[in-house]
Parts: sequence; structure tokens; C-alpha cells
Amino acid sequence: MKRHLILFIGMLALQGIMGGVAAQNETPTGVLEIFSWWAGDEGPALEALIELYNSHYPKVEVINATVTGGAGVNFRAVLKTRMLGGNPPDSFQVHAGQELIGTWVIANRMQDLTWLYEEEDWFDVFPQDLIDQLSYEGGIYAVPVNIHRAGVLWYIPDNLGTWGISVPTTLDEFYAICATLQSQGITPLVLGEAWTAIHLWDQVALSVLDADGYEALWTGGLSPTSSEMIAVWDSFGRVLDCTNIHENAAGLSWQQATDRLVAGDAAFNVMGDWVAGYLSTTLEMTAGEDYSWANFPGTEGAFTWLSDTFGLPVDAPNEAAAVAWLRLLGSVEGQNTFNPLKGSIPARIDAVSAAPELYNTYLQYTAEEWANERLVGSMMHGVVANERFMGDFNQVLDIYIQSRSSTGAAAAMEAVCVQAGACGF
Ligand code: GAL
Repeated sequence: MKRHLILFIGMLALQGIMGGVAAQNETPTGVLEIFSWWAGDEGPALEALIELYNSHYPKVEVINATVTGGAGVNFRAVLKTRMLGGNPPDSFQVHAGQELIGTWVIANRMQDLTWLYEEEDWFDVFPQDLIDQLSYEGGIYAVPVNIHRAGVLWYIPDNLGTWGISVPTTLDEFYAICATLQSQGITPLVLGEAWTAIHLWDQVALSVLDADGYEALWTGGLSPTSSEMIAVWDSFGRVLDCTNIHENAAGLSWQQATDRLVAGDAAFNVMGDWVAGYLSTTLEMTAGEDYSWANFPGTEGAFTWLSDTFGLPVDAPNEAAAVAWLRLLGSVEGQNTFNPLKGSIPARIDAVSAAPELYNTYLQYTAEEWANERLVGSMMHGVVANERFMGDFNQVLDIYIQSRSSTGAAAAMEAVCVQAGACGF
């Protein structure tokens, strides 16, 4: 009797394990909702990935749900309402680092994907530092589809020639060029809506503090009210004076700001390399000829990185289809379908070499830099500070833009760091 009972329990356990494996490998069907901010001009790379998914899983109907607005500024509010309302999408876009961990993982809203990393052998192909930014207390919570570089200085080489200027490598050189351009009625540096000013602030901070100082700011080694940080705000003010912040910036998306560069109304645009995707994929311009790039002045040797990832929310309605989506995102095929169109490089270290011909001059260059430069995480794009900080920092910037008080902004920033539990507080 006892032996029968043990056998019976053993069979049940085995069935449980087999059932789990079957669920993971079952052919997905039904509806899969992918939620992101890659709408309109930002859409082609995601659409190509969905097409690839459809060819592998024809029985799934993919809903490409988007909320327009660069950097996810509008998307995040909608996502929050849905997640807190118990209505999660099957999978959603989220930045590696604090945006993922400090918002969703610590709130127990995401499923641990360590088993998927094991099954797919992803420990060998994603850099460990990146996996660390997706991990919390022994679990891994997202699959990275790319690496983007933030804070690149974009320009049109022919225009610089016409205006008689070269690419500035220090902030002082930039200020001199700024005066030359303004005297010709050209906007030296074009800004778009509010988040693009935060994106610029990140680069000014990196330039003034250097990589060690910038990192120290987010980990508690440098006080937001230190003299170094006052110098950051002072420099930020001087750079802002070279922009269209008081003209039309607030009404421009990042694409529209880039259009002003292309039209020759502005000389430089400080933005992530989604600009390369827009210029090459949407406007069909040639990297290295029609448009070019450089480090933001004074940031030589540093690479500001961020990564777009997707995860599996707790209670995702169609788990089997979502897991198949994540498997595809993490594959060489998926990464090589998405990244050449997006203007980003694969997060997998073995993908570019599998098909180098897919990657243009800019992407080849940046893949090389990613492997060799000093990496620093982007604040604007979620790596080093949590979502609460990013939201509130917007107001710090507003205070500064209106008051131009560096000490006032520094004090306001410290308050926001404390409230959000960021900057090492
Ligand atoms: C970033 C995102 C990029 C790109 C950009 C502009 O936050 O990581 O993939 O979409 O915003 O919207």
C-alpha cells in the first residue's frame, strides 16, 4: 500500500514537471499583445520583428499596441494604469536597469525568466554587466533586444562646411562655435520636447564630471549640491543658451528636431542613435556621408548606454505566446532583424559577426565602441535612476530653466533624489 502511494505521488510529480515543459514548448495560439512606444516613424524595426514572429507562429494574432511619444514619456503613464488595474499586456517595452528593477520587479509584477536564459544558453551571449541590470535577488526579469547609445552629437557634414565650422571636442570650443552660428542666424543645437533637455543634461553632466564623477552621482559618491554639481548646472545654462529652448523646442518631437538639422536650420542635435534609424531607415540618408556623428564635447572615451528590453508580466494573458516572443527577441535572427532598422546594435555579442553586411558604417563603428569604451548608464533612459526620479527631475529642470539658479536647482535635485530613493539615498 505504502509502495503504491509513493509510486502514485512520484507519477504525479513527473506529470507536473512534464506539464510545465509542455506549457513552455506548446505551439502558441490566440492573441498576443505587445505594448511599446514605437509608433509611427519609430515603428519599422518592431514591425519587422512582428512579421518574423508571424512567420514562425502563424496561429497567433499579434496586436501591436503603442502609445506615441519619444522615450516612453506618455507610454509609462498608460502602462502604470494597466498594470495597477490588473490588466497587463502580454509583454511590454522597458529599459534595462532601474526603470525595470526599481519600478516593476521590486513591486513583484514581473516573472523570473532565469529558466529561459538557461534553456536558450543566453548566459554565454549576453554580456554579464547587462544581465546584472536585468537581475534582482537571483532572478532575471527581461530579455534585451538592443543596445542604444545616448547623447551622440549628430550633424550634416555639408552644412558644417557651408557655415565654416568644425565639430567641437570641448565645451569651450562649442561655446565659440555657438557664437559663430548664432551670428549667422543658425540654431547651434536643436532641442525638442522636455525629455530631450534631460537627455542633454545627462551629457553636460558627463562632460563636466567625467565618467567616474557621473557614476558617483548615482551611487552616492557625489553630492547633488557639491561644487562639481553647481558647475554642471552653470555649464548646462551656457549650453541651453545655444538652443531653441525659448523658441519652439517644446512643440518638437525628437524626429521634428532632427528634421530641423536636415533642413539646415540647426547645426547639431544631441540625441540617441534612434536618430541613425530615423535618418537611414525613414529618410533613406547614408550614414557617414549624408549625416555624421561625434561624441558630445568633452565626453571622448565614454559610451552612454541604454537597452530596450521586454519581459513577462505576472498574469500575462497569453504566456505561451509571450514566451515565444521573448525567445525570438533574444535570438540572433530576431536581433539581426530588429537592430539594423532601429539604429541600435544587438545586445548579443555574437549577432553582428553572424551578418556584418546588415550593419551600416555607423552601427559597425558603435559596435566597436560598445566593446572598447568606458560604459556609463543613461539617466534619462532608465539605467541609473528609477522612474519616480525621472518624473520629478523634469520639474527640477523647469525650475532651472525659469530661475537660472544653479544652487536652487542643485538643492531641488537633492530633494528629488531623497524622495525617489535615487542618487544613493
Ligand atoms: C528611448 C528608447 C529608444 C527610442 C527612443 C526615442 O527611450 O530606448 O528605443 O525609442 O526612446 O523614443
